[in-house]
Amino acid sequence: MLRILVTGGAGFIGQALARRLSDDPQYHIVVADNLVRGRLDADMQELIRRPNVEFVEGNVASVEFFDTLPTNFDYIYHLAAVIGVRNVIENPDKVLSVNALSTLHVCEYAKRLPHLRRILFSSTSEVYAGTLKYFSLRIPTPETEPLTLDDITAPRTTYMLSKIYGEAVCCMYGKLYDVPYTIVRYHNVYGPRMGFLHVIPEMFVKIRDHEIIDVASPYHTRAFCYIDDAVTATILAAEHDATQGEIVNIGNSSEEVSIRELVQNIAHIMGKEIRIQELPDTPGSPRRRCPDISKIQRLTGFKPRVCLRDGITRTYAWYKDRLDARHE
Ligand SMILES: NC(=O)c1ccc[n+]([C@@H]2O[C@H](COP(=O)([O-])OP(=O)(O)OC[C@H]3O[C@@H](n4cnc5c(N)ncnc54)[C@H](O)[C@@H]3O)[C@@H](O)[C@H]2O)c1
Repeated sequence: MLRILVTGGAGFIGQALARRLSDDPQYHIVVADNLVRGRLDADMQELIRRPNVEFVEGNVASVEFFDTLPTNFDYIYHLAAVIGVRNVIENPDKVLSVNALSTLHVCEYAKRLPHLRRILFSSTSEVYAGTLKYFSLRIPTPETEPLTLDDITAPRTTYMLSKIYGEAVCCMYGKLYDVPYTIVRYHNVYGPRMGFLHVIPEMFVKIRDHEIIDVASPYHTRAFCYIDDAVTATILAAEHDATQGEIVNIGNSSEEVSIRELVQNIAHIMGKEIRIQELPDTPGSPRRRCPDISKIQRLTGFKPRVCLRDGITRTYAWYKDRLDARHE
C-alpha cells in the first residue's frame, strides 16, 4: 500500500485529486487541511467516509503540525496555499507567511521520510505574469521562460513571489538533501467545487439572472483545463520517473477561447438566449494566455481528454442547484 499526504486536500484541486487516488485501493490517503477555504461539504464527507481516506484538520504553516504526522508517506502533494485575488489583496501577509512557511515545513519534513518517492509542489501560471507584462513572453508559454517579478510594493505580487519562492525551496532541497520533487504550474483549472469567484461560475449566475451580459476584454483569449485532466496530469507528474526534479506546466492548450466565445458557450449549455454587451478591455488584462504543455506530454504521455463544451456541461451540472449557496 502506498501512503499519500495531500495538503490542502479539502480545496478544489486537492479534493478531486484525493478522490481519484482513493479510487485505487492500493493508496491510503491522508488529507490535511485547516479549512480556511476548503469545506467539509457533501463531496468531502463522502470522500472521507472511504476506507482508504483519513482527514486531519491542521495548519501546515505550523511546524508542530508535522510532528503529529507519521513518517511513512510515499508521496506528498503539497497544494495548501492562500490563494484567490480577494484573499491576496486583503491578506498579502498571510500569502507570504503561509505559502512560504508551509513549503519550507513540507520540505524539512520530507527529509525525515525514508520511503518518500516525490513531493509535488503546486505552482501557478502567475509566475509568468511579470514577464508577460514587461517583456515579450512566448505564447504558448514553455517552462523555460525567464520569470520577472511585478511591482514588489503591490499586494498582488505576493502570490507570484510566494510561488516562485516555493519553487526555489523545492529545487534547493532537491539539490542539497536529495528530496525528490516535481513542480507543476497550473493554468486555469476549472470544474465542480471551484468556488464562485471564477469567471465560469460567475457567468452561470449572471446568465441565469440576465439576458444582456456585460463582457469585458471580449476578444482576449484564455485556455481552460478541466479538473479531471488536471488531476490526471498531476498524478502522472508525481509518479513518472522522467518528471523527477522537473518543472512542468499543467493546462490544456488545445482550445484557446475568447472570453466572448466562452460566455456564448456557457449560455448555450445553460439553454439561455443572451445578448452580449462588449465592454472595453480591463486594464492589465493580458490579450492572450496559453501554456505550452509539450513538456509534460513528452515526459509522461499526458493528453487532455475533456473538451471545453463537455467540461462546462459537467461543471454546470454540479453548480446548477447550488447557485444560490454562493461562497468563496
Ligand atoms: N485552481 C487553479 O486553477 C490553480 C491555478 C494555479 C495554481 N493553483 C495552485 O494549486 C493549489 C490548489 O489550488 P485550489 O484551486 O485547489 O485552491 P483551494 O483554495 O481550493 O485549496 C487550497 C486549500 O488549502 C487549504 N489551506 C490553506 N492554508 C492552509 C494551511 N495553512 N494549512 C492547511 N491547509 C491550508 C485551504 O483550506 C484550501 O482547502 C494551490 O497551491 C494553488 O496555488 C491552482
